[in-house]
Amino acid sequence: MKITTKINLITTAWIICVLLAVNAVVFFSFMKITVNMEDSELFQKADYLINEINKEDSQSVIKEKLTPYLTNQSFIRIVQPDAKIINQVTNDQQLASKIKPKFTSEKGTERRTIRLNHQEEQIAIVRVPIQAHGQVVGTLEFGEKLVGLETGKDLLLSILTFCTILGAVLSLLGGRWLSNLIMRPISNMINTMEDIEKSGIPKKIVIQHETKDELQKLAVTFNRMIGRLEENLEKQRQFISDASHELKTPLTVIKSYADLLLRRGLQNEEVAHDAIESIHLEATRIQKMTERFLDLADTESGNRLEAKSINVVALCELIFKQLKSAYKREISLHYQEPDISVVADEVKLKQAIIILIDNAIKYSKDKIDVYLKEKEQWTIISVKDYGIGIPECEIENVFERFYRVDKARSRETGGTGLGLSIAKNIMKQHQGEIIVRSTEGVGTEVELFLPKGRWKGNVFE
Ligand SMILES: Nc1ncnc2c1ncn2[C@@H]1O[C@H](COP(=O)(O)OP(=O)(O)OP(=O)(O)O)[C@@H](O)[C@H]1O
Ligand SMILES: [Mg+2]
Repeated sequence: MKITTKINLITTAWIICVLLAVNAVVFFSFMKITVNMEDSELFQKADYLINEINKEDSQSVIKEKLTPYLTNQSFIRIVQPDAKIINQVTNDQQLASKIKPKFTSEKGTERRTIRLNHQEEQIAIVRVPIQAHGQVVGTLEFGEKLVGLETGKDLLLSILTFCTILGAVLSLLGGRWLSNLIMRPISNMINTMEDIEKSGIPKKIVIQHETKDELQKLAVTFNRMIGRLEENLEKQRQFISDASHELKTPLTVIKSYADLLLRRGLQNEEVAHDAIESIHLEATRIQKMTERFLDLADTESGNRLEAKSINVVALCELIFKQLKSAYKREISLHYQEPDISVVADEVKLKQAIIILIDNAIKYSKDKIDVYLKEKEQWTIISVKDYGIGIPECEIENVFERFYRVDKARSRETGGTGLGLSIAKNIMKQHQGEIIVRSTEGVGTEVELFLPKGRWKGNVFE
């Protein structure tokens, strides 16, 4: 069943229940109030009559006194203690004969339903004792057909039934209109999602009115999600195209040397040696490139970090020891405190530091300085070289994937143009920052900013 139909039926059922409850209260209150009013009116008449009748009055005088009090269909009679009628006036003989006389020494009312002219009729009877010298000598009985009550009851019932039906119909129509109004954005969303499912192309929902309600919030969140999806798809597409382009050059080189080897290499030892060396070089390049691809994918996937407290001084000393023996370059570490700790993923932080030192080694010939500083809420690792530097207009591009300032030179140094992108991703994962300052021909300084101690359990938040 459609949700609109469900909402509609539920609200209508609820409104009918509420109307029935209200109608019941109105109906029973009306009945009670009207009956009480009729009773007190009869009592009042009876009291007047008792005061008017004298013991000495003859039967005919009493009759004369009783007659004016008769209403449309009623009877008035005086009943003796032995339940015999001494005096009676009535304008409905049939009614009077149906109600048996009753003597009572206590004031009271009685309600009876009797069959008159093949119809059920409501009769009200009040009985008031007649006293003489402190003794009850008879009962004044006043009986009346409740004509007004019956008509009022019927009329009220018809009005209430009509109102209930009208309420239910209005609720059905209104509920339909309201649920359609509420469901329209959701139906829009469903249609868009179905389109996306069919075509496989992310698509945003058109927000027609600024309603600022939960549904608009839902649509905005959905659109934001689609926006990110589009962005990621675009990134993925771009990456595949860039990566295949990057892989194409070394593969072409490998293929052409392999061809050369096939054609002439085995006859000429020198050519064979050159070809194998070039193939080895390009294969190493591809190997490094694929490692970088994996690192990039890993740092972009948003995997949680294995954060723990690390002493950066000790970490840098360890890295330098490994790099110094491989590159034979002078790297100096500067710090004020021997224990500067940060909360970070050790493997990833080490990877980011190596990327910066690797660049400093590749793009400079002089010594390299590494500074460890603490400033406000940040721990800063700064790598400074005195090499070729980066032109000012290129600085903002160096974090782009595959971007290299000097392509030809990068081929010589074996750069893939992914190092700084990976370092930036790592800093992003740590909620830190990376800043490059450089002057062409003078040198470059790259700073890693790590926030101090923001972690929960052993996971960086
Ligand atoms: N210390 C530096 N001095 C001069 N230029 C630099 C320095 N660091 C980076 N660059 C420039 O920025 C570009 C991007 O650097 P990045 O580390 O991302 O790539 P790469 O070093 O070329 O390759 P990879 O690090 O993946 O092997 C480099 O190609 C280089 O032109
Ligand atoms: Mg690099």
